[in-house]
Amino acid sequence: MAEKARSGETAGRRLKLGLVGIGVGASEILPAMESAPEIELVAGADVNRRVLETFHARYGAKVYDSIEKLCEDPEVEAVWISTPNKFHAPHTIIAAERGKHVVVEKPMAISLKEAAAMLAAVEKSGVKLICGHTQSFGPHIQTMRRIIQSGELGRLCAMHVWANTDWMLRPRTAEELDVAQGGGVPYRQGPHQIDTVRLLGGGLVRSVRGTTGQWFAGRPIPGYYAAYLEFEDGTPATVVHNGYGYFLASELVPWGGNKMRYSYEERAAIRKQLLDGTRDENADKDAMRIGGAQEGALFRRRGERRPWVPNDLGILIVSCERGDIRQSQYGVYVYSDDGIQDVPLPEQGSSRRAELEELYNAVVLNRPIRHTGPWGMATLEVCLAIMQSSKERREIFLSRQVPSPL
Ligand SMILES: NC(=O)c1ccc[n+]([C@@H]2O[C@H](COP(=O)([O-])OP(=O)(O)OC[C@H]3O[C@@H](n4cnc5c(N)ncnc54)[C@H](O)[C@@H]3O)[C@@H](O)[C@H]2O)c1
Repeated sequence: MAEKARSGETAGRRLKLGLVGIGVGASEILPAMESAPEIELVAGADVNRRVLETFHARYGAKVYDSIEKLCEDPEVEAVWISTPNKFHAPHTIIAAERGKHVVVEKPMAISLKEAAAMLAAVEKSGVKLICGHTQSFGPHIQTMRRIIQSGELGRLCAMHVWANTDWMLRPRTAEELDVAQGGGVPYRQGPHQIDTVRLLGGGLVRSVRGTTGQWFAGRPIPGYYAAYLEFEDGTPATVVHNGYGYFLASELVPWGGNKMRYSYEERAAIRKQLLDGTRDENADKDAMRIGGAQEGALFRRRGERRPWVPNDLGILIVSCERGDIRQSQYGVYVYSDDGIQDVPLPEQGSSRRAELEELYNAVVLNRPIRHTGPWGMATLEVCLAIMQSSKERREIFLSRQVPSPL
């Protein structure tokens, strides 16, 4: 994977990238963009003037107040779309029509109709589309995949992934608080878990029985889902995310206690503010974007080796015929008849770095894409099926699944 880009051999040139939507999600990818030798950040677009000024001052890049203007810039070869969910489809189409390659954040779109329009637009213009799903392509999941594919533990039999987070207590914009615009835990967090189990399980989910939950009066969106997925070959998977922030799964690992974003007391105070309407969400969210007071909480310190904690993906347990696999502090535990082995990750990669490499390799080296449009659409189909199943209280059968990339 990404051999050339990773080793610094970059076909002699850098890819000129534009970032659209310089928000909290973008803050998480920017450190990887800064340090990727094969990427040159040449432009940014946002509707937030403060963020644009910081971006320009920090990167010396051109800034625009719309994606249309950024896409008129002939220097920009590819755009990274990290705008609110409702813009993923229209912004991808705008970029594709102007001949720009696209990486779009998860979820790929809000509906399958939108996703189909995105596929049509990229096909028509001949540009590349990568559906960014961060966690599934991270080093833990890649290592698990390698062990499953090696066959050393026998056939894959079951997967269970479970997250308890404070997602609902983090500051949210109006778009994020409206399901019709792609708000809520199923739309925002479902793709991470679904993409992961699809990648490990071969990609082809046959049916879904799911439920969503909304039980905190301070938030008008679902903060919970649970679903049973069955693959075409009969392999079962369960995916669960509870974002209400009472119990956090990071408490389950000895080194996880001090990795919490908010203390218990802060979480209680936030809930109270949300209920009585005294929280200034816009200011709190803006503080997390680049140049904001809380930016440091997101920008990762370089060179620091960070232990795994059950973050937004959660704890994943993979069961095979002759053993189980789960995340460890710096690798994955493999439980077999030979005992427990702590298998280190191959290198200090990150899912964000892997996505940039995938972009570079696709556009510059003409390598095949793994997060393709149809792959993203299949993950979206599962995500939507969880919500539909919850509403109709029945099993939903799927029709747009595609196999895992090689
Ligand atoms: N993969 C991940 O781990 C991850 C993490 C966080 C967010 N995200 C994704 O990033 C996206 C944005 O979420 P966020 O939390 O960063 O929200 P955010 O509000 O902080 O960021 C969105 C940015 O887009 C800008 N924007 C809004 N409308 C625009 C428009 N028409 N044109 C240009 N810019 C516009 C906003 O001003 C803001 O700066 C979502 O799709 C979310 O799912 C992904």
